[in-house]
Amino acid sequence: MRLLVIGGTGWLGGTVVRAALARGDEVTTLTRGRTAPAGSPRDGALRGVRALVADRADPADVDRALTGRTFDAVVDTAGYSVAGVRTTAAALADVGHYAYVSSISAYRDWPPGPIQGTGDPTFAAAPGADPEAEPAGYGPMKAASERALAEVFGDRLLLARSGLIVGPGDPTGRLGWWLRRIARGGDVVVPASNLEAPVAFVDVRDLADWLVDGAHRQVTGAVNASGDAGMTTYGGLLEACRTVVGADADRAATWVPLDDAMLLAAGVEEWTHLPFWSAGDAARTLWQVDTTSARAAGLASRPIVDTLRDTWSWLRDQPPAAATPVSGRPPFGLPAAIEHTLLDARRRRPV
Ligand SMILES: NC(=O)c1ccc[n+]([C@@H]2O[C@H](COP(=O)([O-])OP(=O)(O)OC[C@H]3O[C@@H](n4cnc5c(N)ncnc54)[C@H](OP(=O)(O)O)[C@@H]3O)[C@@H](O)[C@H]2O)c1
Repeated sequence: MRLLVIGGTGWLGGTVVRAALARGDEVTTLTRGRTAPAGSPRDGALRGVRALVADRADPADVDRALTGRTFDAVVDTAGYSVAGVRTTAAALADVGHYAYVSSISAYRDWPPGPIQGTGDPTFAAAPGADPEAEPAGYGPMKAASERALAEVFGDRLLLARSGLIVGPGDPTGRLGWWLRRIARGGDVVVPASNLEAPVAFVDVRDLADWLVDGAHRQVTGAVNASGDAGMTTYGGLLEACRTVVGADADRAATWVPLDDAMLLAAGVEEWTHLPFWSAGDAARTLWQVDTTSARAAGLASRPIVDTLRDTWSWLRDQPPAAATPVSGRPPFGLPAAIEHTLLDARRRRPV
């Protein structure tokens, strides 16, 4: 199969490329050449890939890169603007199968969820909005991109509404922070309110394999591409992190569960300071996402402990996390000063 991977040098995109090469596909990537220099393989697995350089939102660029080229299928892992999605869709309108990596953020009522199924409403265009204008926000952008692609590809389109992606190579530092913090050991602040709440993830390799397989099998329609709700809980995730870090830990990690009020009063930011933490009731429903569509469409979901073991084995060989990730977003993790204040206050609290 001649496969075009839009965004083939990114985390998911690179994993898709490796999965496709393993199946013997003829792989082409399309990127701007910023994330990794196009044409210079980041690792051996990318050898043999034809690398096209274009900004997908620039019609002249896309014309130059894609004119005269034909593909059997496209896997689109670089959907960050509706304009970009429209521009490449126009140039690839004849392709036999198009898989777009969307997000559960496309659902209008998520967060906090739950998401009952793929028929739940996604963000609609704002009344009277200029159809050419970029919607404000990631979820509305994903929903509008889905609509734009449906106009072009109709029943040749797979919309993979991905849940949280985890696994080896994760550049976000979300799960990585937890693994590294637990490996340092000692008293570890954990959000008491979330420990029983379900969490669900999709392993980047499961998602990539399935996207490639879906192109071969021509899987179409909308799919909530994640592990099952209830695959573990927040507390179960932390326990599994402690297990896989095991003997690599500097010393044993002991949980210090603190309630939402105490965390918020100390300035702990939801989601970023304690990755995946949501205060209040949201945590109960956030990861209750119906994934019947994913199981029916053949998306495998490996046990979370396998994902964590492989992620840790990759992560422990990586240099310490950069203070500011490449994306420019603040790094994930609890700032040392806040952790110190919280643990100190906890020690002084009368029992
Ligand atoms: N991470 C999650 O938990 C999560 C959850 C749900 C959905 N998703 C979706 O999953 C997809 C993949 O995420 P990721 O973390 O693997 O992405 P990523 O690592 O940021 O990779 C993005 C890729 O897209 C390319 N790209 C970006 N803008 C481009 C443009 N204008 N023209 C051409 N290529 C462009 C990048 O290369 P250049 O920079 O060289 O152009 C790179 O190859 C995204 O669509 C994201 O929305 C992620």
